[in-house]
Amino acid sequence: MAQALGIDIGGTGIKGALVDTDSGELLSERIKLPTPEGGAPDDIVQTVIDLIEKLGGAPEDVPLGVCFPAIVRHGRTMSAANVSKKWIGLEAEALFEKALGRDIHFVNDADAAGYAEVRYGAAKGVKGLVILTTLGTGIGSALIYNDVLIPNSELGHLELDGKDAESRAAYSAKERDDLDWEHWAKRLQKYYTHLENLFSPDLFIVGGGVSKTADDFLPLLKLDTPIIAAVHKNNAGILGAAALAAPRPASAPSVEFPTDSE
Ligand code: BGC
Repeated sequence: MAQALGIDIGGTGIKGALVDTDSGELLSERIKLPTPEGGAPDDIVQTVIDLIEKLGGAPEDVPLGVCFPAIVRHGRTMSAANVSKKWIGLEAEALFEKALGRDIHFVNDADAAGYAEVRYGAAKGVKGLVILTTLGTGIGSALIYNDVLIPNSELGHLELDGKDAESRAAYSAKERDDLDWEHWAKRLQKYYTHLENLFSPDLFIVGGGVSKTADDFLPLLKLDTPIIAAVHKNNAGILGAAALAAPRPASAPSVEFPTDSE
């Protein structure tokens, strides 16, 4: 059985587990620690070290995948919407590797979730254009066309009502503005209609923690495109990070990742 550790760094929590990358199942309990206030590089690195320790360590022969809420190009973080601005332009993959004393595979969090859904979930075998969006602290996106993932699409930063879309329609905006499902769904309706007009996708997949209660809001949306919850809900980032770090069987979906640092 192929195994890898997956760590999903978010604006609110940092989660990790050991994953069976053949089946996409968790082999350990999922552990979550709060993202340190301010999201500064050294603090996040230290939390990842603590998390790995709680998971029983990360021996060099177990691949380790880490996903992060920013544009990731060739191991560098190129944006920072919900973490410290110190990440912008940082050699983040090298920073983690130095602190952990081992190799890691480092990608954007929504891209990791998208890959997990192509490999083990709702986008498996779906032809055409699939857009996965994660609704959490921010909005992340993964564009998948015929099993190929196009990284760093960052559709959470489209403009909506004259503002950054994620500041209006992320789950954190629902909580901040104390919106009920109906009022939040109105913002989501605008957001997904905009995506639909721009991309004419074949399928929308909704991930992030709130996908656990997708029945409360997905039925309120009227779209031409089918919209469904991610099969792996909030674990998709962990699964995808692990799966991308592990050697891939020939049958696994291809992924064009200009983020690979090697
Ligand atoms: C970031 C993305 C990330 C998303 C979800 C956005 O603010 O720009 O890179 O995927 O949040 O975490």
